[in-house]
Amino acid sequence: MQRRKIIIDTDPGQDDAAALMLAFGSPDEIEILGLTAVAGNVPLSFTSRNLRIVCELCGHPEAKVYEGALKPLNRPQVTAEHVHGKTGLDGAELPEPTMLPQEQNAIDFIIETLRREPEGTVTLCTLGPLTNIAMALTKAPDIAPRVKELVMMGGGFSEGGNITPAAEFNIYVDPEAAKIVFGAGIPLVIMPLDVTHQLLTRKARVEKIAALGTRPAQVLVEWLAFFERFDIEKYGSDGGPLHDPTVIAYLLKPELFSGRECNVEIEVESELTVGMTVVDWWRVTDRKPNATFMRTVDADGFFELLTERVGRL
Ligand code: RIB
Ligand code: CA
Repeated sequence: MQRRKIIIDTDPGQDDAAALMLAFGSPDEIEILGLTAVAGNVPLSFTSRNLRIVCELCGHPEAKVYEGALKPLNRPQVTAEHVHGKTGLDGAELPEPTMLPQEQNAIDFIIETLRREPEGTVTLCTLGPLTNIAMALTKAPDIAPRVKELVMMGGGFSEGGNITPAAEFNIYVDPEAAKIVFGAGIPLVIMPLDVTHQLLTRKARVEKIAALGTRPAQVLVEWLAFFERFDIEKYGSDGGPLHDPTVIAYLLKPELFSGRECNVEIEVESELTVGMTVVDWWRVTDRKPNATFMRTVDADGFFELLTERVGRL
């Protein structure tokens, strides 16, 4: 079976770490060409460190990690330590990484890779703000038609926002970058809060991960215990929504998800709703569909997949 070539752009974050574990646990289906760190949940120095910690935890010190944007295109940095803790990976005690980031910066790596690989063979998987991708598209517009598809965690429709009433964090942090990406003509698959809020880290689900009895599984359980506390308090739910692994799960089992082609635009002007994904789900405008916007997921199937693949690490 042809392995899917991917670049993962990420701002770890405990839920990013779960997505990375799912990817590293699926080597038969996924070939990770490189991993690019972006400022988001925590500053770039931490997202780069955290990305390398996860690579080593998953047994991949040879993975290629690149450092990207220090801040959004033209807004002050917004971070989410209130959710992820000061380091972004609070909850588990792990040694500092020994592997170093690559010399080349993430933006040039993304451009060079898309120009080198055959057209339409590389999937971009984004788990954080879209700054790196937007910078690559601005520096090298020729790469847009070369992308197979871009699968992202971001946005919201019926679930509204999580950092403001209207905006989801990844889009809110850099709405100008999102506008560039959504307007680039790349086939987009969006995993919004509408999907991720159906994926709660319920006690019974986390117990199955813990029952794997491996070090990676134990660390993931500790990360989830820290990560979920914020959402449990906020939503009063049994566990918190597990956002980023949806991107990798889509590559492995797209049938877990359902949605529809529709137009999605990004609000960048209004102070009240900046970062909102304006989703024309009911096609009330003549704006051209530019994304597959997912709305439902088989939650048990998702957690079975995540648990089984983490168990392979
Ligand atoms: O809104 C959830 C998203 O913001 C996730 O990607 C999480 O890691 C944070 O980056
Ligand atoms: Ca993230």
